[in-house]
Amino acid sequence: MLFKSNLVALGAILFSGAVHASLQIVSGGSWTAANTGMHIQAHGAGVIKVGSTYYLIGENKLDGYSFQSIRCYSSTNLIDWTFVNNLLTLQDSGDLGPNRVVERPKILYNSATSQYVMYMHVDSSNYADARVGVSTSSSVCGAYTYRGSFRPLGFQSRDMGLYQDSDGAGYLLTEDRENGLRIDRLSDDYLNVTSNVYTWAEKYESPAVIKKNGVYFMFASQLTGWNANDNKYSTATSLSGPWSAWANFATSGSNTYTSQTNYVLTIGDMAMYMGDRWVSSNLMSSTYVWLPLTISGTTASLTWYYNWVINAAAGTWSTPPADNSYEAESSTNTRTSGTQILSCTDCSGTSTVGYIGGSAGDTLTFNGISSSTTTRTTIRMRYTNGDTTQRFADITVNGVTQRIAFVPTGSGQITGVASMTFNLNSGTGNTLKVAGVDGGWAPDVDRIVVPVS
Ligand SMILES: *[C@@H]1O[C@H](CO)[C@@H](O)[C@H](O)[C@H]1NC(C)=O
Repeated sequence: MLFKSNLVALGAILFSGAVHASLQIVSGGSWTAANTGMHIQAHGAGVIKVGSTYYLIGENKLDGYSFQSIRCYSSTNLIDWTFVNNLLTLQDSGDLGPNRVVERPKILYNSATSQYVMYMHVDSSNYADARVGVSTSSSVCGAYTYRGSFRPLGFQSRDMGLYQDSDGAGYLLTEDRENGLRIDRLSDDYLNVTSNVYTWAEKYESPAVIKKNGVYFMFASQLTGWNANDNKYSTATSLSGPWSAWANFATSGSNTYTSQTNYVLTIGDMAMYMGDRWVSSNLMSSTYVWLPLTISGTTASLTWYYNWVINAAAGTWSTPPADNSYEAESSTNTRTSGTQILSCTDCSGTSTVGYIGGSAGDTLTFNGISSSTTTRTTIRMRYTNGDTTQRFADITVNGVTQRIAFVPTGSGQITGVASMTFNLNSGTGNTLKVAGVDGGWAPDVDRIVVPVS
C-alpha cells in the first residue's frame, strides 16, 4: 500500500510540475470553491501564506451586507481554492451580532506568542462605532477567539489593513475619517496599538502596504462608496515618511479596472494586486480583480489582463496562450431536445443555449475541443444568469465532473465569465458537457474559450 500511494503521490507531483503551464487567473468572473460548488465568498480579503499554502480570508456576503461569517479558503497555486473553515460566525449579540459591519479581515502570525492575530473593521450599521476588532487562533484556518474591539489610540478606524515588516514589527493601516489615513505600530503581541507612525492629510481607505527593495508602497482607494475609483499609491523608504505624493497605478480613468484594493500579495519576486469588484445591489455576486503588479524603483503600475498565467511556486507570471472559442449554438455540439437557442445581445453570435437542466435534465455537450498538449488548464465559459442568485452546473470534461457556480450577470442579455480547471487530452477529441444540478436550471451558455496549449 505504501508503495502504491507513493507512486500516486509521485505521479501527482510530476503531473503538477510538468503541465501547469496555462492555469490562469480570470478577473471579474465566477470563481468556484472546489468543495462547495459555490462562488468564493472572500470579499475585502487578506492573504497569509503558511508553508507552501496560501490562505484567503474574507467576508461572506451570501446573505447581503451585514456580518455573516469570515471565511477561509486555501490554495497552493492561487487559482484552485478549497473552503476550509468559518473563522468567525454570527453571534447572538455584541460586535459580531445581528446587523453588524465586520469587514476586511487581515491576519498576521505572531511568532513570539505563536498566535495568528486577525484584525477586522468592526462597526455598527450606521458606522458610528468605527473600531477595530481583534481575534486570535493557534491555527491559521482554525476557530478564532474574538477578543473585543477598540478605537486605535482613540481615533476612528474604518477600512483597515495590516503590514508585517521584515523585522517582525506589525502595523495597523487604518482609515480615520476625521483626520486621514494612518499607520499605527502594533504592540509586540499584535493585540493592541502602541503609537502613531504616520498620518496622511488625505482621506483614503482600503489600505495595503508592501515593501520591495527597501521601498514601502502604500496602496489605497479614494472615498466613493461602493463605486470604484482610480486607486492611488505613495512610496517611502521609512514607514514614518516622508511619503511621496499620491499617484495612480492603474490606467487613469479605468477606476482601477473597476475594482477597489483589498490586498497586495508578494509572491516570490512578483507582487499581485487584489481588488474587489463590488456589486452593491447583490454583494455576494461581487467578483475579484487580481492582476500582476509591476514594481520598479519607486514606481508601481498595473496593466489589465483579462486572463493571465501565474506560477505561484516560482513567483512568476506570463501572458496566456492563444485560445479557441466554441459557440454553444454550434451544430457540432450535442443538445438534448429541451434545450433552446435563444437570442442574447451581448453574446457572440448573438445566441446562447438555454433551458439546460430543469426537471427534464437537458444537457449541452461541446464536441471536438482541441488542445495541442495533454494539460491541466483554465477553461472560460461565457454565460448569462438573469436571476438574483447563483446558478449551478455540473460540468463534465472527458468524464470528470465538477460543480461550477455562475453568479448573476444582471440580465439574460449580459454575459459573465466563469473559469474552471480541467484536464485536456492532446488532440481534438475533448468533450465538455453542461448539465443542471438537482433539477435547477444551469446558466444560459454563450460559448467556451479553451487555451490552444
Ligand atoms: C492599548 O494601548 C493603549 C495606548 O497605548 C492603552 O491606552 C491601552 O490601555 C491599551 N489597552 C490594553 C488592553 O492594554
